[in-house]
Amino acid sequence: MPKLMNNKNTDSKPLNKKKSKFIFKSPKGMHDILPDDQYLWDRFLKNGKETAEFYGYQKIETPILEEMDVFLKTLGEESDVVEKEMFFVKGGGADKYVLRPEGTAAVCRAFIEHGMSHRPQPVKLWYVGPMFRREQPQAGRYRQFHQIGFEIIGGSIDPIYDAQVILASFRILEQAKIKNLTVNINSIGCRICRPHYRKRLVEYYKKHEKTLCADCKRRLKSNPMRLLDCKNSSCAPLKAKAPSLMDNICVSCSSHLKLVLEYLDELSLPYVLNPHLVRGLDYYSKTVFEIFADQNPLALASGGRYDYLLEEMGSRPTPGTGSAIGIDRVIEQMKAQQVTPPKSSKEKIFFVYLGDIAKKKVLKIIEEFRKTNILTQESFGKDLIKRQMALADKSEAQLALILGQREVFEETIIIRDLKSGLQETVPVTKVVDEVKKRLK
Ligand code: HAM
Repeated sequence: MPKLMNNKNTDSKPLNKKKSKFIFKSPKGMHDILPDDQYLWDRFLKNGKETAEFYGYQKIETPILEEMDVFLKTLGEESDVVEKEMFFVKGGGADKYVLRPEGTAAVCRAFIEHGMSHRPQPVKLWYVGPMFRREQPQAGRYRQFHQIGFEIIGGSIDPIYDAQVILASFRILEQAKIKNLTVNINSIGCRICRPHYRKRLVEYYKKHEKTLCADCKRRLKSNPMRLLDCKNSSCAPLKAKAPSLMDNICVSCSSHLKLVLEYLDELSLPYVLNPHLVRGLDYYSKTVFEIFADQNPLALASGGRYDYLLEEMGSRPTPGTGSAIGIDRVIEQMKAQQVTPPKSSKEKIFFVYLGDIAKKKVLKIIEEFRKTNILTQESFGKDLIKRQMALADKSEAQLALILGQREVFEETIIIRDLKSGLQETVPVTKVVDEVKKRLK
């Protein structure tokens, strides 16, 4: 039989007189979402869900871990994410997993795995959750961040779907009260026109190869389109004069883009054509976009069309388009704009007790309120009735329920109106009904 511990309270004794050498912190680039910020997250997520449902997206959840190849074979070997930002996780034996760096490839994997091509097309899916990239942490760029994403998969290659995924993200950002939003948009062409453009781009940059930064020199050989994405100031003058995608895409791609823009006009969504926008992930074709709020250089949402991605993952040719919002960045923007917490719509009562027996009874009475719309508060750590009353006065509660030794003996409880100070003693068996009457 195991030895029973003696009942002495040893909690307040320090475990070890020596102070711990370690100061534990959250992992690099990952942050806690503290109670004070939860109302912002709740508000954002509620709007996100309602908007997704309004526009006919169905929710999908995929695992946080995926087989490594889901991303290695789809995002592009030369993409920053694959080159240096994946968190690898050892499975048993030969299994190799990664913490998902984004949602699109995972959703496409699920679309194929669950035969969603047999459903009415296109399939509109939305998701929300944490993503992981081993980036160099800085403001607005984390190693664990959260996205809410929208994907329209299957059906035809219709520009209206591009407009619809932009619309979903745009409206959610608007509802988060983010001001002065603009969509940056471009077309990066298709399998037919992109090779010609790439050739022209290489010819252009080859002439100036010596002046390029080290990254651009390397990418000129492996993925020249990424040179348009270079943020290095020494490459900026060359980039400005580089052949424009817009002038080099095929008729099908340019009429696709034209129609997307017409739909954005119809919806009065503000946009600018950005011929240098290429995006960091390789699965895109035709439309690519990023949504910015003024004075914030980081995109709050981004996405584009990926008509070859599902085919590359083993499906028959299936078009797709999507967008994802970076929630952490939006919450920071909401905080900067001092969005205030909503007042709780639920009524509150505060329990005050005197003595151990009353403390036990309060624990039980709280359970009686569980099935009502009334929230309860107590301060079990503070045995002094004066201190409990002070906390009750400071709280948002309308009523204090006071249980002293006499009340325990008489099976009653005092209901005190915290505003007027008026109080009344009622039978404890009737306390829920009596409180409800007063809160009305
Ligand atoms: P992405 O541009 O890599 O695209 O990420 C989408 C959004 O997530 C960005 O616009 C940004 O707001 C946020 N984000 C990205 N990286 C970080 C980070 N390190 N820290 C904080 N926020 C970040 C995608 O992930 C695509 N899957 C989007 C998409 C959906 N394309 C088609 N469908």
